[in-house]
Amino acid sequence: MTSQIIPVDPFDFIIFGGTGDLSERKLLPALYHRQRDHQFSEPTRIIGASRTKMEDKEFRAFAKKAISDHVKPEYIEEAELKKFLDRLSYVAIDAKSGDGFAELKKSVADSKRIRVFYLAVAPSLFGDISDHLKEHKLVTADSRIVVEKPIGRDLESAKALNDIIGDDFGEHQIFRIDHYLGKETVQNLMALRFANALYEPLWNSANIDHVQITVAETVGLEDRVTYYDKAGALRDMVQNHMLQLLCLVAMEAPASMEANAVRDEKLKVLNALKRVNGNEAPKHTVRGQYRAGASAGGPVKGYIEELGSESTTETFVAIKAEIANWRWAGVPFYLRTGKRLASRVSEIVIEFKPIPHSIFGESAGPIFNNQLVIRLQPDEGVKQFIMIKDPGPGGMRLRQIPLDMSFAQSFDGRAPDAYERLIMDVVRGNQTLFMRRDEVEAAWKWIDPIQHAWEASRQEAQGYTAGTWGPSASIALIERDGRTWHESN
Ligand code: BG6
Repeated sequence: MTSQIIPVDPFDFIIFGGTGDLSERKLLPALYHRQRDHQFSEPTRIIGASRTKMEDKEFRAFAKKAISDHVKPEYIEEAELKKFLDRLSYVAIDAKSGDGFAELKKSVADSKRIRVFYLAVAPSLFGDISDHLKEHKLVTADSRIVVEKPIGRDLESAKALNDIIGDDFGEHQIFRIDHYLGKETVQNLMALRFANALYEPLWNSANIDHVQITVAETVGLEDRVTYYDKAGALRDMVQNHMLQLLCLVAMEAPASMEANAVRDEKLKVLNALKRVNGNEAPKHTVRGQYRAGASAGGPVKGYIEELGSESTTETFVAIKAEIANWRWAGVPFYLRTGKRLASRVSEIVIEFKPIPHSIFGESAGPIFNNQLVIRLQPDEGVKQFIMIKDPGPGGMRLRQIPLDMSFAQSFDGRAPDAYERLIMDVVRGNQTLFMRRDEVEAAWKWIDPIQHAWEASRQEAQGYTAGTWGPSASIALIERDGRTWHESN
């Protein structure tokens, strides 16, 4: 994508969990791309911090491999790679005992420079790291701390985590990442809504029939046995990514793109979500778990076989959500997400109401509701489905076609990964695309009653064959209302 790259002020970027999976797959490749795009000013440094003892040169070798494994060969430029690796150093730290923090202090000698402490570690270490940073006077006015989800597993634990970090850092210094907000198309949703006059007059319950948000994955459990089985799809995907998408669709226009202006509006949506109580849960929610089936052309195991033990954890969720405010009353938001589904696709479908009266006879065929389909991944783009006359002779027959705005066709170049944007926003101190404390907690306030209802009624996770679109109950959830899931492929 061609855009002007503005260099950021020099910074020290400290990755706790520097030799971990996130650092390897996302952070180091993202930082390399920013180097390649000349976005760093001198002297920017990147410091890996983990428990393993290693020399700087070993960490550089780790980073070099991470980049060759996760960056396409055509983007690897030897000169830029060398410059990037030269910025790297390593400190062995023990987050529990605090060993190594004194060393770290020596590595970040200049207290005026921006400091980013990126916590790519288990949440159980957030408190210890944050306290040791404070104790060693590493937290300066220009420091920021970045935390990854999961931020808690319910409201209470989220508050406890927020308190712990909040003791050592001000809210303006805390960056809670939801990487969906860094995706190009997710930001495009804001552009679509607020840079065009076309949609806003229609963006309400008078004109919109319902909204669908699908985040479907083909992957299974991967290597995340301990984390995922304790979380499940509701906590892993709905509490954060899905609700953030819902907020962007449903929020009022913020006064500006300033962080709190945007976050205030998202918070209002979260607070207006109608609680799903115990009686409603079986009707408004579906839990599923994948069984053996096929994915990517080959056979795959079921969740329980992959896990190696019995489990009732859901790998699929569908929910009929409602927003109790003037704009959205009566407009259902159908959410669904799952692992080992038929294809990897994330999209938002806005379906408009039917026309009030057809002037065409039956021979013209059915008139479908207009749909706006915002495809987040893959094949990012926006399609506006409209009805037209089927071209040619033979009388008036109607046909649905998409006005197709595919980003790949419209823009040249590489689409940056979400982490690239988010990391640079952290350095700039721009919190617009990060979750504020009250947002995270408001999301849990909506999730917790669903989780409790499931536990109280022992609502089962219904089996679905890997490679399908989830349990049949998910189809029934929407078809009961006379609607169907948009066919994604
Ligand atoms: C993560 C979840 O937050 O998002 C994973 O923990 C999920 O379970 C991932 O696979 C999906 O992200 P993306 O960017 O691949 O859609």
